[in-house]
Amino acid sequence: MAILNDPKPWWQNAVCYQVYVRSFADGDGDGVGDLPGITSRLPYLRDLGVDALWITPFYPSPQNDHGYDVSDYRDVDPLFGSLDDADTLIATAHDLGLRVIVDIVPNHTSDEHAWFREAVAAGPGSPERARYLFRPGRGEGGTEPPNNWASVFGGPAWDRLPATPEEPEPEWYLHLFDSSQPDLDWRNPEVHQMFLDVLRFWLDRGVDGFRIDVAHGLYKEATLRDQEFAVGESASYDHASVNTDQAMVERRLTDEPMWDQPEVHEVYREWRKLLDTYAGDRMAVAEAWTTTAESMARFVRPDELHQTFNFSWLLAPWSAESFAKVVTDTVETFGSASPTWVLSNHDVVRHVTRYGGGEVGLARGRAATLAMLGLPGSAYLYQGEELGLEQVDVPPEARQDPAWLRTGDEGRDGCRVPVPWSSQEPPFGFGPGTGQPWIPQPADWSELTVEAEQADPESTLSFYRRALEARRTIQDAGDELAVSVDGDLLDVRRGSLRILLNCGDSAVDIPADAGQVVIASGPVSGRSLPPNTAAWLR
Ligand code: NOJ
Repeated sequence: MAILNDPKPWWQNAVCYQVYVRSFADGDGDGVGDLPGITSRLPYLRDLGVDALWITPFYPSPQNDHGYDVSDYRDVDPLFGSLDDADTLIATAHDLGLRVIVDIVPNHTSDEHAWFREAVAAGPGSPERARYLFRPGRGEGGTEPPNNWASVFGGPAWDRLPATPEEPEPEWYLHLFDSSQPDLDWRNPEVHQMFLDVLRFWLDRGVDGFRIDVAHGLYKEATLRDQEFAVGESASYDHASVNTDQAMVERRLTDEPMWDQPEVHEVYREWRKLLDTYAGDRMAVAEAWTTTAESMARFVRPDELHQTFNFSWLLAPWSAESFAKVVTDTVETFGSASPTWVLSNHDVVRHVTRYGGGEVGLARGRAATLAMLGLPGSAYLYQGEELGLEQVDVPPEARQDPAWLRTGDEGRDGCRVPVPWSSQEPPFGFGPGTGQPWIPQPADWSELTVEAEQADPESTLSFYRRALEARRTIQDAGDELAVSVDGDLLDVRRGSLRILLNCGDSAVDIPADAGQVVIASGPVSGRSLPPNTAAWLR
């Protein structure tokens, strides 16, 4: 029996569209996306059929990590607009029936945040330094970093302040990311208070939820001891290639005094209590690259966060076996909590490219998306995937990602290229400016613009729209899943719905008892499911 007074909160089966603010839409023509640009494109998101948007950080920031280095959590960077523009965006989204999730960055601030400047000026042992993780160096004169930790972006996780007459042997500060992103010390109650105030600030402005950056990182083992390594392994966490590098997952399993400490959950209990004081099902989703399913599930205990990104599909290779395992493990892991599904975001290689690129990669990308959208829970889409965009090989002189700048590794610029909206040449309607935006777009994107794809019923955009519309009709299918694999065919029964995904190179017969095709990711004729194709049947 349906409990009429107790509908599911909106986020439990929402489709949430990730807006990478610099690259979605440019309102003022300076080549960088902004809040008025997003507002002007909200009708597009409504028509696409998503329920919510998550906007990456738009707060004042020197932009060394493109907004993930925040210098003031309660304002808008003039590059992106003003607080009034944020209010207009939130109000317009709500008028269109869209929810708004903003990004909170609690693990670190920018080195231009007032707190860090005060800490540098105040000197060792001061309450100002105690908001961050300052330590004396090791060795004679303190010239060696306090421990052996590596930055996620390459190189040591410590930088030393310059020597001054007052501090001739200066302290070092911890930065798990770029040297301009000093880590906060969450053992300090002032840090808790500051972030509760920041959450209140944005909740009072009407946001519906928060995406929590590096949610598993806030606490470090109190001793800040050295990390242990298996023989032959280096102290580096290869963030940019997480999508393909299974070795990273294994390497991180060895010893992690800097991630996922038990104390972090107390923070989210505090935050949950605050969120629950607001009407309207306000929520939070954790970005927590934990090493085990169990540790991921801890973030979504009933008194903690509502969701955590489930990166398992994003990490899985293209095969029916591996996807079956992803679905089964996810359901087991999340138990009664609402699962999430993600194929792409601004930190990983776009999934069409991961699946081989070109026609095959696109067919696979569409198929994986359809399979994912058929599952119970909430799905996160990344801007541009609805156009079938691929990873771009950004020329070295146009690279901007601090991970690339620090290591020369692949970096993340290639999935952050501004969205093509219309016309035949860059900036493809991205904004009113002319010429290339902040990361150059490939000259041959004219067939991938929103305008071009809207006009083509076979385009990836038209497919996404149909899929999101069809998704609304299957919510009555229930949450019970039965997963099986037959050769290359992934076969998921969700109540009366059947989700089939053919990961093989040849067509397979659609089982006789599978019902009629509701929607397919590519052309299906008769009872044969082509290679690299998914379908929902009922
Ligand atoms: C995760 C974000 O998604 C990524 O873009 C950022 O560089 C790091 N956290 C550091 O904030």
